[in-house]
Parts: sequence; C-alpha cells; structure tokens
Amino acid sequence: MGGRSLTRSTKKLYSSLLSLLFFLFHSASGRELKFVLLAYRHGDRSPIEKYPTGLHSESDWPQGFGQLTKIGIQQQYELGQYIKKRYSNFLSATYKREEKLRYPVFNCPRYLELLKETMTSREFQTKIQPYQEFIKTISFYSGYNPSTLKYLDNFKLWHIQDTLFCESIHNYTLPKWATKDVRAKLSELTVISLSALFGIYKREEKARLQGGLLVKAILENISNAAKYPDKRKMLVYSAHDTTLGALQMALNVYNEKLLPYAACQFFELYKESNGQTHSIEYTIEMHFQNDTSKDPYLLTLPGCSSACPLSQFTELVSPILVEDWESECKTEGKKGNYLDMNKEDEQPVAQMEQALGLSATS
Ligand SMILES: *[C@@H]1O[C@H](CO)[C@@H](O)[C@H](O)[C@H]1NC(C)=O
Ligand SMILES: *[C@@H]1O[C@H](CO)[C@@H](O)[C@H](O)[C@H]1NC(C)=O
Ligand SMILES: *[C@@H]1O[C@H](CO)[C@@H](O)[C@H](O)[C@H]1NC(C)=O
Repeated sequence: MGGRSLTRSTKKLYSSLLSLLFFLFHSASGRELKFVLLAYRHGDRSPIEKYPTGLHSESDWPQGFGQLTKIGIQQQYELGQYIKKRYSNFLSATYKREEKLRYPVFNCPRYLELLKETMTSREFQTKIQPYQEFIKTISFYSGYNPSTLKYLDNFKLWHIQDTLFCESIHNYTLPKWATKDVRAKLSELTVISLSALFGIYKREEKARLQGGLLVKAILENISNAAKYPDKRKMLVYSAHDTTLGALQMALNVYNEKLLPYAACQFFELYKESNGQTHSIEYTIEMHFQNDTSKDPYLLTLPGCSSACPLSQFTELVSPILVEDWESECKTEGKKGNYLDMNKEDEQPVAQMEQALGLSATS
C-alpha cells in the first residue's frame, strides 16, 4: 500500500518535473539576448589629493594623483574577461563600442541649490548626527578645520577616506590614528556623501537633473537596439563611482555600499516570444557585479519584475526623464541658466569636478 502511493506520488512528481522542464525549455527557447549595455567603474587608481597632514604626497605615486595603477589595469582586464565569457555565444568583438561618461554635471544651478538644501535637511542631519564627535576627531587628525568637514558637499572627508584606502591597498604607511575602526567609519560617511549627492533628500528631483539624463541616454540606446536589431550588440560606458551612484539612485536600486573598483552595471535586452500568441515583447534585465569572484546580482526596478517589459520600464522611470534640462536647472532666485554664468561662477563647478576626480583619472 505504502509502495503504491509512493509510486503514485513519484509519478506525480515526475510529471510535474516534466512539465517544468518543458516550460523551462520552452521559455528559454523563446527568449533571445539582443543587446547589452554596460557601465563600469574604472579599476584601482592612486589618490586624488593629499589632506593637510597626509604622509604621502603626489610624488610618492609613480604616475601622480588620480591615475589608473597596474592593479587597476588588471582589474579592468579581468572584468573584460568575465564579459567575454558571459557573452561568449553572443558577442563578436567588432560589435563593441566604448564611450566615456562624466557625471554628475554640476553646471546646473538648481542642482547645486538642491545639494545645499540637502546639507541642512533634517533627513541628512539625522544621518550624520551619530558621527558629529567622530568628524571633530578626524578634523583634528587630518588638519582640516572642523567647519570644513561638517558638511560633506566639499568632498574633503570623502578624500581622506579615499586617500587612506588607496594607501592601504598599496601598502603605504598609514598614520597611527587611521585604525581599521576609523577607516570603517570613514567609509560609512563616504556612503552618506555619495547618497547625499543623488538621494536622501528630494531624490527624484536630483535624478531628473543628474542620473535621469543617463537613464534617458541608456533607454534611447536600448530602444534603438530593439528597433534596429543586429546593428550593434554591445555598448560599454566607462564611469566613476559617482556616475554609477547617480545611475543606481536614479533607478532606486542603490545598495548603500561603496562602489568597488571595476564594479559593473549590466542592462540586457531580451526578445521574448510567447509561443501561444506569437506576440513579441522586449524585456530589460539589470545585473550588478561588485565582486569579480561572484556572478553579478540580479537587480529589480521597483514596481517591475526582474525581466521588466521595455514599455513598463520606460513608464516606471518616466518621472525622472527630463524634457528640458536647461530650464529645469534654472533657479527662482537667479535669472538665466548656466550659459549665463560668468567665469567666477564656473569656479565651483571646476572645483566640484576636480574634487570628485572627474577631471583626473583616465
Ligand atoms: C601589499 O602587501 C601584501 C602583503 O604582503 C601583498 O600581498 C600585496 O601584494 C601588497 N600590495 C602591493 C600593491 O604591493
Ligand atoms: C546612446 O544614446 C545617447 C543619447 O541619445 C547618444 O548620444 C549616443 O550616441 C548613443 N550611443 C549609441 C552608440 O547609439
Ligand atoms: C554587492 O551587492 C550586493 C547586492 O546589493 C550586496 O549584498 C553586497 O554586499 C555587495 N558587495 C560588495 C562587495 O559591495
């Protein structure tokens, strides 16, 4: 009796396995990768700047500040190898094209205003409240005025973290005060700085002025690929951590961790055909690789499934796609937009870009 029911349930299991297999095979065969777009962070580099009491100056680094190192080149090579493997059945080298992204763009008065507002916002203040004493200590050790480090929008604290991080990777002597604990706390503050640039306060409006521009470009590239299939198979954007942060926060998929070197955001366009209705649909899948020893993580756009229909994806991100960026960048107080800026007004823009290493690093 026991034997018979076992047989029956085995049969049942067998048949459901069969139908599962059929389903898997069927859906797999009705799904075809059509286009891949990647945005990756550059590999290991030297620091961007020295803080006042820093032990190592620019001449201590073989290529100077803000330059890709041997390790960095190796990391980018490894990422390249992974991409080659991941898409080995899909790619031929000639279809690849690489472009460089420089974000955020600071020549947007409304965005600069939003950054200022962020620093004094309750949301931001709540986040840095637990670090007040720590920030004072760091200003003492680093030689910065406490008022310089209080707000994170000059990126000084970020650079202390970054410089120590670079020095530790390359086995340079660290100052005594830069214990593991201190560096961990600095990393937490760096995440808060990055989040403050594109999130924490009025995330959506910031996204319209920053990361949304990227999302728009990416969607245009993807839609083009859907319209004119087999033209180009892959588009690669090289980027900075701030760029990837802008992108992920605009899509609301940022994990609130530092973006490691050679971190890579994947967008894959699939053509899905439904066997029954013969209807064709395109979906976008997002993956994020932040650890070369692991496969990328599957990311899901909030409100969609992980394989998100292209039309639904576009609909969901529409609030952050801006039609007329220049006019949205205008501020109430100041007439005119960045085009009217005089040389003096350009100063903060140049400083910001330099502070973020956007004008250095290859
Ligand atoms: C730093 O030191 C570690 C341990 O000795 C070594 O494995 C590593 O290769 C060194 N890094 C560099 C960049 O020289
Ligand atoms: C991707 O889209 C952007 C924005 O439309 C455009 O400037 C760029 O040329 C596109 N790249 C390719 C390879 O189509
Ligand atoms: C990579 O991203 C995943 C998913 O957000 C996260 O769980 C993981 O901690 C991240 N790892 C690193 C090294 O940042």
